[in-house]
Amino acid sequence: MSIVYLNGAFMDAAEARIPVEDRGFLFADGIYEVTPAYRGRFFLMDRHRDRLLKGLCELRIDADTSGLAGVHDRLLRENGLADEEVAYVYLQITRGVAPRTHAFPKAPVAPTVYAFARPYRRPDREVWDRGFEAVMVPDRRWARVDIKTIALLPNVLAQQAAVDAGVADALLVRDGIALEGAHNNFFAVFGETVVTHPKSNVILHGITRGYVVDMARDLGLEVQERPIQVEELARADEAFFTGTTTEVRPTVRIDGRPVGKGGVGPVTRRLFEAFLERVERHAAGG
Ligand SMILES: Cc1ncc(COP(=O)(O)O)c(C=O)c1O
Repeated sequence: MSIVYLNGAFMDAAEARIPVEDRGFLFADGIYEVTPAYRGRFFLMDRHRDRLLKGLCELRIDADTSGLAGVHDRLLRENGLADEEVAYVYLQITRGVAPRTHAFPKAPVAPTVYAFARPYRRPDREVWDRGFEAVMVPDRRWARVDIKTIALLPNVLAQQAAVDAGVADALLVRDGIALEGAHNNFFAVFGETVVTHPKSNVILHGITRGYVVDMARDLGLEVQERPIQVEELARADEAFFTGTTTEVRPTVRIDGRPVGKGGVGPVTRRLFEAFLERVERHAAGG
């Protein structure tokens, strides 16, 4: 049994109901956020909250977010996840319920607020050590993917293309540039230089991406935030994806071709170790 939050109440997931006229259902008119918790302590909560507020503002959804931190904590507790090594809370806010017409409802309606908590299982270390594969998929998304909307059909199709190919990740490519994954950000490593696409309207500004960029600089690595040409990947020594439910995931083959030597490289390893150390410290109250 899982306990979810819907519009002010906690309930069994099986009891949660959304009216058919919810604009999330009809138009994907809403946003979402996923925040990780390490042994019950939410990680980078402020950054996730700020991105949520920015998204609400962009979509002009007027939602009361004041109690949401409490909702996050309670969802972990209600679902027995307060001591879980890693868990996350998914939160979705839509414009609410109104008769179907494209423009916003004339009279204000209450946004629909839904959230659930789930454990996250990190891959076993032997699996991580072998690395993961990715396939390139054309990016078919709209021009504001910096807003974390629930309209994810191109991401769904891209991730399914990865699953169909038997690999972990889809690398979205547009105009010869490797942008990001279907649900994570992409990094390439050249020597000791870590490269990732700059923040703009063509990628989601991943919270993990920002954290890893800062961490790489702290570790003395050079970081370049610039577009990565697909042709450059043939010269990359390493590649990896980052995300809340990806953490730092090494990519050792793209479209069947080895990245660098075709194994997990030292920079990716260093970044993952540092990431684990920091989330561990955070979980311990640091
Ligand atoms: C398209 C896309 N890029 C990147 C990310 C990674 O963002 P974060 O690190 O905030 O989880 C996500 C997360 O869902 C995503 O959907």
